[in-house]
Amino acid sequence: MEQSEDPRNRGRRKRWITILAILIFIVLALGLGLGLGLTLTKKSSSPKATDPFCQSNSDLCIGGYLDEAYYSKKGAFNGSGIAVAGESWNKDQRRIFTLFFQHWSGDLRYMQYTTDRKWIGGDKAQTIASDAKNATPISTVAYALNGTMVFHLFYVSRDNLLRQRTWTNDTNIWDEGLLNKLNLSTYDNPSVGLQACWKGNFYGDSDYTKFPTPSGQENQQHFSERKGMDLWYALDGSTFQQYSWYEGQDQWKAMDKWLGKNTHAGVACYSWGEGTTTYAMMVNQANETEIWWKDTNTTMPSTDEHPINSWRNSSNGAIDNVYPTTSMGYTTYFYAQMADKSMKGFNVTYQAENTTIADSFTITDPAGPVYGLAGTHLTMTAYAEMEGNTTLWDSLYVFYQTKGDDIAAFTRPIKGGEWTEGSLQIPQ
Ligand SMILES: *[C@@H]1O[C@H](CO)[C@@H](O)[C@H](O)[C@H]1NC(C)=O
Ligand SMILES: *[C@@H]1O[C@H](CO)[C@@H](O)[C@H](O)[C@H]1NC(C)=O
Ligand SMILES: *[C@@H]1O[C@H](CO)[C@@H](O)[C@H](O)[C@H]1NC(C)=O
Ligand SMILES: *[C@@H]1O[C@H](CO)[C@@H](O)[C@H](O)[C@H]1NC(C)=O
Ligand SMILES: *[C@@H]1O[C@H](CO)[C@@H](O)[C@H](O)[C@H]1NC(C)=O
Ligand SMILES: *[C@@H]1O[C@H](CO)[C@@H](O)[C@H](O)[C@H]1NC(C)=O
Ligand SMILES: *[C@@H]1O[C@H](CO)[C@@H](O)[C@H](O)[C@H]1NC(C)=O
Ligand SMILES: *[C@@H]1O[C@H](CO)[C@@H](O)[C@H](O)[C@H]1NC(C)=O
Ligand SMILES: *[C@@H]1O[C@H](CO)[C@@H](O)[C@H](O)[C@H]1NC(C)=O
Ligand SMILES: *[C@@H]1O[C@H](CO)[C@@H](O)[C@H](O)[C@H]1NC(C)=O
Repeated sequence: MEQSEDPRNRGRRKRWITILAILIFIVLALGLGLGLGLTLTKKSSSPKATDPFCQSNSDLCIGGYLDEAYYSKKGAFNGSGIAVAGESWNKDQRRIFTLFFQHWSGDLRYMQYTTDRKWIGGDKAQTIASDAKNATPISTVAYALNGTMVFHLFYVSRDNLLRQRTWTNDTNIWDEGLLNKLNLSTYDNPSVGLQACWKGNFYGDSDYTKFPTPSGQENQQHFSERKGMDLWYALDGSTFQQYSWYEGQDQWKAMDKWLGKNTHAGVACYSWGEGTTTYAMMVNQANETEIWWKDTNTTMPSTDEHPINSWRNSSNGAIDNVYPTTSMGYTTYFYAQMADKSMKGFNVTYQAENTTIADSFTITDPAGPVYGLAGTHLTMTAYAEMEGNTTLWDSLYVFYQTKGDDIAAFTRPIKGGEWTEGSLQIPQ
């Protein structure tokens, strides 16, 4: 006997199916949502978010490029460029030097060190640029010219363009530099070298011929006694491009390409000493620094050993076993980061083809060498406070990062002695 279903039952079943369908839908939707939610949460808290280049070249990278967790949350940017401009020519101001750095927020700011040995500035009001690339190298050149104080600051922007900001005490603002007009693209890489240098030592520098006259003819007019700057920046993994500018010129001009270098490392220069020879230092592909020289004294005969107006490698001036992305600099001593990440100062005797390195020291505290972060930027200066002919006090200053959100300052009397370590107080 066939039992016909009770219509009430059918109705109930239908309701149950509908409820079940709704429940399944809700569970599915929730599951999906939760799943999405979970994946999203997982992604943002993932410990590794490295730059593709850094995945296979971690030696050449620093800070947030290696791991997002390494971005600083206070103080200085992890991998901050660091540059100092001395103001020894500036007798009125009681300032010893200005230090430029990248704030943890990414902005480029400056702080000043006074003759009372106190730091001032570093606040938001001392912001110079907000478009800097993460861990950009920073380079500065400062001088007084014709009664005007001038600061130039060079860095790399987020879109890998070379940038210059210029300040004079006439305007008292950080303005666009002349170089910006050229839109020069740098090597698109997490660590690139960059250095601007006061072109102090040039007399008959043949580079002046690269600056055309208004008629477009080659310039025959020596820029002797003029002032200017040299600049080196990374073009690719092994080439530094040099540019030059002379005071009064309304353009920068391309000079030599320096091939076969490790452009992840820094560049250093020395061009303000006595004589007519200029020096540039770079790291080669064998983790070795090279010291190159160029003599611009055109009244000297040009010989094979000592050519005039030509860059040469000094064969006894090399330093091996440096860290592959070492930053370098020279004031009183030549400094570099070694393969073991310690910081060394070298006493270089600058003598063109006879350039040699007499001796060296390591920056230490009582526990031993004070290691820098691998590939930290590094800068230095020296100062002597004089009263007549008497030195009241003098000091070497070396700055680098040991933690990532810090800028550590190391000081020592010029003639020798213990190093004292301090850390700059960087405002939020
Ligand atoms: C900065 O980055 C380095 C890696 O380059 C890392 O070892 C260090 O812990 C980081 N510092 C901070 C404060 O996160
Ligand atoms: C220096 O200043 C003087 C007077 O203002 C001016 O005549 C001269 O052209 C200036 N020189 C340079 C190189 O700017
Ligand atoms: C700029 O600085 C120089 C050198 O200190 C000084 O002689 C000059 O008066 C200053 N100019 C202005 C406009 O403050
Ligand atoms: C540089 O870039 C700016 C903005 O994109 C553009 O206006 C200018 O023409 C460019 N200059 C050169 C020399 O390419
Ligand atoms: C340079 O140093 C890096 C890291 O210390 C090392 O991996 C590399 O093999 C060195 N290169 C040469 C040519 O010695
Ligand atoms: C250039 O060389 C000549 C010849 O050796 C020398 O007399 C002169 O002092 C040098 N010039 C400078 C500025 O050093
Ligand atoms: C420069 O000189 C150093 C030391 O002699 C040498 O190791 C290096 O290979 C030289 N570089 C070039 C490009 O000649
Ligand atoms: C470097 O070495 C030379 C030669 O030994 C010496 O005369 C000079 O004082 C040293 N310089 C420093 C800064 O130690
Ligand atoms: C380098 O040394 C040689 C040999 O001692 C010497 O003849 C030459 O003048 C020196 N050059 C410089 C620039 O000191
Ligand atoms: C400073 O030294 C110079 C040169 O040695 C000397 O002529 C001068 O008298 C000295 N001045 C003082 C105040 O001692």
